[in-house]
Amino acid sequence: MVRKAIIPAAGLGTRMLPATKAVPKEMLTIVDKPVIQYVVEEAIDSGIAHILVITSKGKNSMRDHFSKDFPNAAYYREKGKTEVLERLETIGHCKIEFIEQSDLNGLGGAIYLGKDFIGDEPFAVLLGDTICDFEDRNPVLGQLIDVYNQFKSSVTAIEEVPADYVNRYGIMGGDALSDGIYKVSQWVEKPEPELAPSRLAIAARYVFTPAIFQCLEKTTKGRNNELQVTDAMHNLLNAEDMYGLQFKGTRFDVGNPLGFIKTNLHFGLKEAKMGEELRDWLGNETPGL
Ligand code: UTP
Repeated sequence: MVRKAIIPAAGLGTRMLPATKAVPKEMLTIVDKPVIQYVVEEAIDSGIAHILVITSKGKNSMRDHFSKDFPNAAYYREKGKTEVLERLETIGHCKIEFIEQSDLNGLGGAIYLGKDFIGDEPFAVLLGDTICDFEDRNPVLGQLIDVYNQFKSSVTAIEEVPADYVNRYGIMGGDALSDGIYKVSQWVEKPEPELAPSRLAIAARYVFTPAIFQCLEKTTKGRNNELQVTDAMHNLLNAEDMYGLQFKGTRFDVGNPLGFIKTNLHFGLKEAKMGEELRDWLGNETPGL
């Protein structure tokens, strides 16, 4: 069973400066919730019971956000404001821990910090700056866990990207089986378009067997002098089968200004109350108050 998850959220957020000077990018607001709350909710809705968030210096607000001991709770309790108190609750039945990544040596380095927390179990990884929306009742991580349960092997969310975007992502090579599932034969980190084995890109959600930790130990630093999880995944192929899943849903990368605005519009338009007004406002040629 996949019960534990790691959420890497230690990155610098350079592309979102100056917003991220004092506020972690994972704490930026999408409609009325910080990005990381969407990510934690996806994990919980997928059956995860225990989460480790990888954080870094200056990112304490993430810990504060998930604390049960929130400021002003006593005030609202005294006033009998139960509706407000419900909105302050950020986690359901899930335990969240935090660990600091002092050396920002990449996503692989962030995941490796979860080795002791995970122990000898399969586990999920959800990037803390990416929200995955879905249509049916099964979140994207839940879809990956279903594939893990079928094959008992690592599974990565993949999506097709335009040819000139492949050098921004980890790219998969492999063969299609059925229902969007692929058997992986190679992983390449940010290849130039002419060298890419496909246009299928890693999409911010993974389920790994614990064998990935031994691969991370053996993997040397790659692109940008960072420990690349994609390189460790490629090494894992020598020991185990791996699968890719073209999931049902949409990935929203909140770590750049355009992605951030698109994500806010997407979730704003979905809101029952504000969606209609927002749609009208967007349709207006000279939108104002
Ligand atoms: P990104 O590479 O998009 O994050 O990592 P970044 O480094 O913050 O981006 P820029 O280039 O400076 O804008 C994807 C996810 O992995 C985490 C990030 O916090 C983000 O959620 N991450 C990245 C870590 O936890 N540790 C790292 O060393 C790098």
